Amino acid sequence: MNILVIGSGGREHAIINSISKSNKCSKIFALPGNGGTELLAENLSGDVNDFELIKKISLKNKISLVFVGPEDPIVNGIYDFFKSDPQLKDINIIAPSKQAGLLEGSKDFAKDFMQKYNIPTAKHKTFSIENIDEADKFLESMSPPYVLKADGLAAGKGVLIIQDLNEAKVELRRMIIEKKFGNSSTKVVIEEFLDGIELSCFVLTDGINYKVLPFAKDYKKIGEGDSGLNTGGMGAISPVPFLDDSFLSKIKSKIIIPTVNGIIKEKMQYNGFIFIGLIKVKDEPYVIEYNVRMGDPETEVVFPRLNNDMLELLDSMGTPKFNDIKLSITENHAATVILVSGGYPESYQKGKTITGLNDISNELIFHAGTIKKDNTFITNGGRVLAVTSTAKDFKKALKTSYSKIDKINFDRMNYRNDIGFDLL
Ligand code: AMP
Ligand code: GLY
Repeated sequence: MNILVIGSGGREHAIINSISKSNKCSKIFALPGNGGTELLAENLSGDVNDFELIKKISLKNKISLVFVGPEDPIVNGIYDFFKSDPQLKDINIIAPSKQAGLLEGSKDFAKDFMQKYNIPTAKHKTFSIENIDEADKFLESMSPPYVLKADGLAAGKGVLIIQDLNEAKVELRRMIIEKKFGNSSTKVVIEEFLDGIELSCFVLTDGINYKVLPFAKDYKKIGEGDSGLNTGGMGAISPVPFLDDSFLSKIKSKIIIPTVNGIIKEKMQYNGFIFIGLIKVKDEPYVIEYNVRMGDPETEVVFPRLNNDMLELLDSMGTPKFNDIKLSITENHAATVILVSGGYPESYQKGKTITGLNDISNELIFHAGTIKKDNTFITNGGRVLAVTSTAKDFKKALKTSYSKIDKINFDRMNYRNDIGFDLL
């Protein structure tokens, strides 16, 4: 089979790495891919939201399966584009429909869905220009900190957590009236602050059956001790040490099953991953958010723990075989540490030469912001490399990742030295 993977991050490199091991895999194309994917796939240049280009690529290269990594093309309706095109409709596209994409693309939609299906989440109310006058009263009725969320996609930056009531009132107006996050913040969800520890849950579903993948925990803040600005993710580990059987069974009964049933009841077409961002508050799970894709950097620790033929699994979706395949998950723990460009998540420079990669085992080093030029890798983004290792426990895995990192270098390379700090 020929496969097209859409996206350019560590997530997509990890996906390509898994798919490439399958006997069913003939050739992989990546749009646009990165320096690492180039070693396993043919990188094609172009925009992930250019559906006409994706159509041309798919037909020209006789693609049978398209894996959509990032949320943008999903929320923009790439699934519906394929299914409504006579030439593309039989291609297996791993992505949910545009309607299901609203679970990530609109926080207001996701909150209504959770309310309708009794899925535990923070109490909330949604505001826009129409009811902005009522927002002050609502904020006054809550206790700090105040959580303000832009309704639409905002590249992980649309959530503000504010201690001061007056500042919350001002920021709400900045979001709605001054369009602080563009059209994403014409609606704002204000919600109760939940105090607990977060974890990421991944479900693969074809809208009929589903499988729960390994859980993971990611580290979003740039600074050690979870300080400073939010990033795309600075590291992750899988499994999650505090996820015991009793907590897992609560997550299944209160969250996973009602979510999948809700998707089926709403007749949403779904052929892909549901990423449920969870928080554990006093032994109870709550949903912080839904995403309609795999997480990054979580994929870099989840996929290496799956022993299945991933292409066979994905190819079986929508057929009875999907239900028959049992997930085979390694006992080993996986940890990844992200190397980022100095300055990230604010402004940073690209074009730095990466050294040391030839001196270490590269098997689980996933590239994110890199390009390959004359046999050297050059930095090309904020998040540059995901250095993953596996071992009997996550501390040993981290030790191996950090010892590899000691050998890697580029000008102003930065990373967190304390991934997993809160679990020791
Ligand atoms: P989201 O984009 O909804 O995942 O929010 C980004 C981050 O903000 C989450 O990973 C949490 O760390 C934090 N967050 C979001 N909503 C809440 C909440 N209701 N209570 C506490 N923290 C939250
Ligand atoms: N690691 C969080 C995300 O992918 O959104």
